[in-house]
Amino acid sequence: MNIVIVGFMGTGKTVVAKALAKELKKDYVSMDNVIEKKEGKSISDIFAQKGEPYFRNVEKEVAKELSEKDGLIIDAGGGVVLNEENIKNLKNNGKIICLTATIDVIFERTKRHTHRPLLNVEDPKKKIKELFDFRTPYYKKADHEIDTSKKSIREIVKEIVEVVGSR
Ligand code: S3P
Repeated sequence: MNIVIVGFMGTGKTVVAKALAKELKKDYVSMDNVIEKKEGKSISDIFAQKGEPYFRNVEKEVAKELSEKDGLIIDAGGGVVLNEENIKNLKNNGKIICLTATIDVIFERTKRHTHRPLLNVEDPKKKIKELFDFRTPYYKKADHEIDTSKKSIREIVKEIVEVVGSR
Protein backbone atom coordinates (compact mmCIF):
# COMPACT_ATOMS: atom_id res chain seq x y z
CA MET A 1 0.00 0.00 0.00
CA ASN A 2 1.12 3.58 -0.73
CA ILE A 3 0.39 6.73 1.26
CA VAL A 4 -0.42 9.64 -1.01
CA ILE A 5 -0.14 13.18 0.32
CA VAL A 6 -2.33 15.60 -1.62
CA GLY A 7 -3.42 19.17 -0.96
CA PHE A 8 -3.13 22.73 -2.16
CA MET A 9 0.26 24.30 -2.86
CA GLY A 10 1.87 25.45 0.39
CA THR A 11 -0.01 23.11 2.70
CA GLY A 12 3.23 21.29 3.61
CA LYS A 13 3.04 18.17 1.42
CA THR A 14 6.76 17.92 0.74
CA VAL A 15 8.08 18.37 4.30
CA VAL A 16 5.37 16.12 5.71
CA ALA A 17 5.83 13.38 3.10
CA LYS A 18 9.61 13.37 3.67
CA ALA A 19 9.20 13.21 7.46
CA LEU A 20 6.59 10.46 7.13
CA ALA A 21 8.85 8.41 4.85
CA LYS A 22 11.65 8.71 7.40
CA GLU A 23 9.35 7.74 10.28
CA LEU A 24 7.95 4.68 8.46
CA LYS A 25 11.25 3.81 6.74
CA LYS A 26 9.61 3.92 3.32
CA ASP A 27 10.66 5.47 0.03
CA TYR A 28 9.69 9.08 -0.63
CA VAL A 29 8.73 10.01 -4.17
CA SER A 30 7.73 13.42 -5.50
CA MET A 31 5.40 13.29 -8.49
CA ASP A 32 6.69 16.65 -9.69
CA ASN A 33 10.28 15.36 -9.58
CA VAL A 34 9.30 12.29 -11.61
CA ILE A 35 7.55 14.54 -14.15
CA GLU A 36 10.59 16.82 -14.40
CA LYS A 37 12.90 13.84 -14.94
CA LYS A 38 10.62 12.31 -17.54
CA GLU A 39 10.36 15.56 -19.49
CA GLY A 40 13.92 16.77 -18.86
CA LYS A 41 12.50 20.18 -17.88
CA SER A 42 11.38 22.07 -14.82
CA ILE A 43 7.65 22.26 -14.03
CA SER A 44 7.75 25.99 -14.90
CA ASP A 45 9.29 25.24 -18.31
CA ILE A 46 6.74 22.51 -19.03
CA PHE A 47 3.88 24.95 -18.28
CA ALA A 48 5.52 27.75 -20.29
CA GLN A 49 6.56 25.69 -23.32
CA LYS A 50 3.85 23.02 -23.52
CA GLY A 51 0.96 24.37 -21.49
CA GLU A 52 -1.05 23.13 -18.53
CA PRO A 53 -3.11 20.45 -20.39
CA TYR A 54 0.14 18.77 -21.50
CA PHE A 55 1.45 18.88 -17.92
CA ARG A 56 -1.82 17.34 -16.63
CA ASN A 57 -1.44 14.49 -19.12
CA VAL A 58 2.07 13.66 -17.96
CA GLU A 59 0.86 13.99 -14.36
CA LYS A 60 -1.88 11.45 -15.12
CA GLU A 61 0.63 8.96 -16.57
CA VAL A 62 2.90 9.38 -13.55
CA ALA A 63 -0.01 8.94 -11.10
CA LYS A 64 -0.88 5.67 -12.85
CA GLU A 65 2.72 4.43 -12.88
CA LEU A 66 3.22 5.19 -9.19
CA SER A 67 -0.08 3.60 -8.19
CA GLU A 68 1.21 0.36 -9.69
CA LYS A 69 4.12 0.39 -7.23
CA ASP A 70 3.98 -0.42 -3.56
CA GLY A 71 5.14 0.89 -0.19
CA LEU A 72 5.74 4.46 -1.35
CA ILE A 73 5.10 7.78 0.32
CA ILE A 74 3.92 9.85 -2.63
CA ASP A 75 4.20 13.65 -2.55
CA ALA A 76 1.57 14.53 -5.14
CA GLY A 77 1.30 17.82 -7.04
CA GLY A 78 -1.42 20.19 -5.84
CA GLY A 79 -3.63 19.63 -8.88
CA VAL A 80 -3.55 15.82 -9.04
CA VAL A 81 -7.03 15.54 -7.47
CA LEU A 82 -8.64 17.40 -10.37
CA ASN A 83 -8.68 14.26 -12.47
CA GLU A 84 -11.09 11.56 -11.28
CA GLU A 85 -8.94 8.86 -12.88
CA ASN A 86 -5.96 9.91 -10.73
CA ILE A 87 -8.02 9.60 -7.54
CA LYS A 88 -9.28 6.19 -8.64
CA ASN A 89 -5.79 4.91 -9.49
CA LEU A 90 -4.14 6.29 -6.37
CA LYS A 91 -6.90 4.98 -4.06
CA ASN A 92 -6.68 1.56 -5.65
CA ASN A 93 -3.40 0.91 -3.94
CA GLY A 94 -3.17 3.55 -1.27
CA LYS A 95 -4.61 5.90 1.27
CA ILE A 96 -4.99 9.52 0.26
CA ILE A 97 -4.27 12.08 2.96
CA CYS A 98 -5.15 15.68 2.17
CA LEU A 99 -3.30 18.52 3.85
CA THR A 100 -5.04 21.85 4.04
CA ALA A 101 -4.37 25.30 5.51
CA THR A 102 -5.96 28.74 5.62
CA ILE A 103 -5.60 31.07 2.63
CA ASP A 104 -3.40 33.41 4.72
CA VAL A 105 -1.05 30.58 5.71
CA ILE A 106 -0.84 29.32 2.11
CA PHE A 107 -0.06 32.83 0.89
CA GLU A 108 2.67 33.32 3.51
CA ARG A 109 4.23 29.94 2.74
CA THR A 110 4.21 30.39 -1.04
CA LYS A 111 4.95 34.08 -1.56
CA ARG A 112 8.73 33.84 -1.51
CA HIS A 113 8.87 31.10 -4.14
CA THR A 114 8.76 31.48 -7.90
CA HIS A 115 8.73 27.85 -9.03
CA ARG A 116 4.93 27.53 -9.07
CA PRO A 117 3.67 28.72 -12.47
CA LEU A 118 0.04 28.96 -11.32
CA LEU A 119 0.98 31.50 -8.64
CA ASN A 120 3.28 33.64 -10.80
CA VAL A 121 0.53 36.18 -11.36
CA GLU A 122 -0.09 39.79 -10.39
CA ASP A 123 -2.34 39.04 -7.44
CA PRO A 124 -1.31 35.61 -6.08
CA LYS A 125 -3.58 35.84 -3.03
CA LYS A 126 -6.66 36.33 -5.20
CA LYS A 127 -5.52 33.43 -7.40
CA ILE A 128 -4.97 31.20 -4.35
CA LYS A 129 -8.49 31.98 -3.16
CA GLU A 130 -10.05 31.25 -6.56
CA LEU A 131 -8.17 27.98 -7.07
CA PHE A 132 -8.75 26.94 -3.46
CA ASP A 133 -12.53 27.46 -3.69
CA PHE A 134 -12.75 25.65 -6.99
CA ARG A 135 -10.65 22.73 -5.77
CA THR A 136 -12.17 22.26 -2.31
CA PRO A 137 -14.73 19.61 -3.41
CA TYR A 138 -11.93 17.68 -5.15
CA TYR A 139 -9.72 17.66 -2.06
CA LYS A 140 -12.68 16.31 -0.05
CA LYS A 141 -12.33 13.04 -1.99
CA ALA A 142 -9.28 12.14 0.13
CA ASP A 143 -9.58 9.49 2.85
CA HIS A 144 -8.58 11.94 5.57
CA GLU A 145 -7.93 15.68 5.86
CA ILE A 146 -5.52 17.51 8.17
CA ASP A 147 -5.34 21.28 8.66
CA THR A 148 -1.62 22.02 8.95
CA SER A 149 -1.99 25.75 9.73
CA LYS A 150 -1.21 25.39 13.42
CA LYS A 151 0.31 21.92 13.66
CA SER A 152 3.93 20.84 13.83
CA ILE A 153 5.37 18.37 11.33
CA ARG A 154 5.66 15.84 14.17
CA GLU A 155 1.98 16.16 15.05
CA ILE A 156 0.92 15.79 11.44
CA VAL A 157 3.11 12.71 10.90
CA LYS A 158 1.72 11.14 14.09
CA GLU A 159 -1.85 11.77 12.93
CA ILE A 160 -1.18 10.19 9.53
CA VAL A 161 0.42 7.12 11.12
CA GLU A 162 -2.63 6.70 13.39
CA VAL A 163 -5.13 7.13 10.55
CA VAL A 164 -3.34 4.77 8.19
CA GLY A 165 -2.71 2.22 10.91
CA SER A 166 -6.33 2.09 11.91
CA ARG A 167 -7.62 1.32 8.43
C1 S3P B 1 0.27 22.51 -9.02
C2 S3P B 1 1.06 22.30 -7.93
C3 S3P B 1 2.51 22.10 -8.01
C4 S3P B 1 2.90 21.56 -9.40
C5 S3P B 1 2.33 22.41 -10.47
C6 S3P B 1 0.81 22.51 -10.41
C7 S3P B 1 -1.19 22.73 -8.83
O1 S3P B 1 2.92 21.19 -7.00
O2 S3P B 1 2.46 20.23 -9.56
O3 S3P B 1 2.92 23.69 -10.34
O4 S3P B 1 -1.95 22.64 -9.82
O5 S3P B 1 -1.62 22.97 -7.68
P1 S3P B 1 3.02 21.61 -5.43
O6 S3P B 1 1.65 21.52 -4.86
O7 S3P B 1 3.93 20.58 -4.86
O8 S3P B 1 3.58 22.99 -5.37
